[in-house]
Amino acid sequence: MSFHKAMPLSDLWCGEMAACSIAGRKILLVRTEQGVCAFEDRCAHLGVPLSQGSLAAGVITCSAHHYQYDVYSGLGINPRTVCLKSFNVNVEDGVVYVDIAPEQPNEPN
Ligand code: FES
Repeated sequence: MSFHKAMPLSDLWCGEMAACSIAGRKILLVRTEQGVCAFEDRCAHLGVPLSQGSLAAGVITCSAHHYQYDVYSGLGINPRTVCLKSFNVNVEDGVVYVDIAPEQPNEPN
């Protein structure tokens, strides 16, 4: 794991999205009643930053062509064939940390 400081939790209100950059990667942070989620800030369609989109009723909508994603899982709602890359989040002492480590390959058995 490779957690990096993203932003103070107080900078991200419930129901809001925000973009940040961690080690050169553009990350979308979303705060809901359930906590904070992090995704790559890149629509699966043509790569437009989702931080330019909107968040309502648990759905992230891209500003460009209105692809929609579930805010908790990053799975596509419309269309269902896409998904966002998600990252683990940890909130500690009022600070949001995001794990941007690349996915680990499966260990050979
Ligand atoms: S780039 Fe997001 S819907 Fe087209």
